Amino acid sequence: MGTFPAVPDLPPVRPTTVPSPPRRGKATLAVSCNKGGVGKTTVATNLAIYLRALREDLPVAVVSLDDQRTVDRMFALRPPQPGEGNLKHGWAERSLDRVLQLGQYGIHFVPSPPDVTLLKARAEDPTTLRRILERTTWEGLFVLDTKSDLESLTENAFHAADRILVPVADWASLEEAAKTFRVLERGRIPAERVRIVLTLVDRRTRVDGAEALHERLEREIARRGWPRYATALSRSPRVETLNSGTERPRSILHHARGTAVHAELRALAEEVLADLVAIGAIPGAGGLESDADRRARAADPPRPPLARVRGTRLLETFWRR
Ligand SMILES: Nc1ncnc2c1ncn2[C@@H]1O[C@H](COP(=O)(O)OP(=O)(O)OP(=O)(O)O)[C@@H](O)[C@H]1O
Ligand SMILES: [Mg+2]
Repeated sequence: MGTFPAVPDLPPVRPTTVPSPPRRGKATLAVSCNKGGVGKTTVATNLAIYLRALREDLPVAVVSLDDQRTVDRMFALRPPQPGEGNLKHGWAERSLDRVLQLGQYGIHFVPSPPDVTLLKARAEDPTTLRRILERTTWEGLFVLDTKSDLESLTENAFHAADRILVPVADWASLEEAAKTFRVLERGRIPAERVRIVLTLVDRRTRVDGAEALHERLEREIARRGWPRYATALSRSPRVETLNSGTERPRSILHHARGTAVHAELRALAEEVLADLVAIGAIPGAGGLESDADRRARAADPPRPPLARVRGTRLLETFWRR
């Protein structure tokens, strides 16, 4: 790619911010932190399940920009088939339509690329993923799980996202979050798109035997003026077992009812939904109703559709603690 020579007395005109992420029936959440092991994948995958359960009318797809394959193991309904497409193919085709699969829990997902090195080289233009999502005809909410780096694929996620969730678990990840803000500034992405989420919180952990660690982190996040979701996610031995006890990581919603982290993930999902509705990234509840459903409801107003009743009962069972 050629570069243009600098014109000394004419400073380049740059837009103040990058264009908004794709619209028209699509919204995007990215989960990113440069520090490894802070719970990005756990948040991305489980939040997707809670969002889907809370808003049955909102299709949700998880796209992993990592090659760890946790997302595939969690959602795939069948073993990988020979010749099956993955993110690498979607990237080359500039559309995820052919590689999106319907998986467990009603969540769509894109099989992870076997190795992200090649993909990173094809992601030098940070707006590539945004354009791929625009060209994808599937509509709903994309949840992007990123690798613990701030390289080209993660930058692509930032440019595509309506909201960027940054999990912070300790002081080191808080310092890494500062780097995220610097990358956003460089890419002219508004810092307001970020929401810090405190993760792996152990309320017993004290700093110098006095202040609780999570309170200290909250104070520092507020001092730095970083936007934060109010809900914090606790460290839970149950979650650790669900993630690492078997080959297939298990959903917190389906396997950890009655735990604090279950209630917290539900609260976080409600917070995220309200936020996405408030910024116009997704319609309010009921806004995704199809014309056929609307006609059916108008013809027979007192009875909600059977699927809705079943779904609601199912949810009530899940939410009971
Ligand atoms: N709330 C939690 N309670 C206990 N353990 C958790 C919790 N969330 C995540 N973990 C555990 O922490 C580890 C890291 O989680 P996860 O893989 O989600 O982090 P990550 O940020 O995606 O990591 P990486 O940087 O490797 O992609 C896993 O072993 C997971 O089981
Ligand atoms: Mg991960």
